[in-house]
Amino acid sequence: MLAKRPEQPPQVLNLPALPQSPYNRPLFPEGTPLVADKRYSCIGLYNPKSPENVGSVMRAAGCYGVASVFYTGKRYERAADFVTDTKRVHYDIPLIGIDDLKKILPLNCVPVAVELVEGARPLPEYTHPDRALYIFGPEDGSLDKEIRDWCEDVVYIPTTGCMNLAATVNVVLYDRMAKGLNTRSGPKFR
Ligand SMILES: C[S@@+](CC[C@H](N)C(=O)[O-])C[C@H]1O[C@@H](n2cnc3c(N)ncnc32)[C@H](O)[C@@H]1O
Repeated sequence: MLAKRPEQPPQVLNLPALPQSPYNRPLFPEGTPLVADKRYSCIGLYNPKSPENVGSVMRAAGCYGVASVFYTGKRYERAADFVTDTKRVHYDIPLIGIDDLKKILPLNCVPVAVELVEGARPLPEYTHPDRALYIFGPEDGSLDKEIRDWCEDVVYIPTTGCMNLAATVNVVLYDRMAKGLNTRSGPKFR
């Protein structure tokens, strides 16, 4: 009869500790691609005026899965009444006041000006970037040339006369959703 082998203690793997970030979270392991493959959209509001519009934009952001909303200017204050954001989306999606939309462009994100202006591309024929920052002008003005020139694309919605700011945001986000995986890189982006 064979002698019973003595039981071996379970092998303990000696994995190296992950490096820590200054915020006490592990950094990504070496070899992790810096650019992921997730599509997203952000919204930039250029000097918006009315809390009702910003509230409606937040509601649209919630409906269409926008990552974050930025705004410039002092007219609209963060503490403003969110009467139109009845779903309390501003609790979940960051709404961030900044001094310059050019300073917050996320990595690999394409700035797109949305303006009813000559030379803009019609939205129905537009292929959206995988990651987009859509920038909208104020209720009582338009996006100036400087910001339009900085944007990679300028798109317009072929309406008779201009729409309300929040309505425009809804149309752009709906168009992006309706086109589904047909962003610039196609289905290889999640
Ligand atoms: C109410 S509109 C601006 C008002 C307009 N400039 C005027 O005549 O007083 C606010 C913003 O909505 C967007 N917008 C409205 N209608 C649009 C359209 N048909 N195509 C593209 N953007 C539009 C633009 O970003 C615009 O700056």
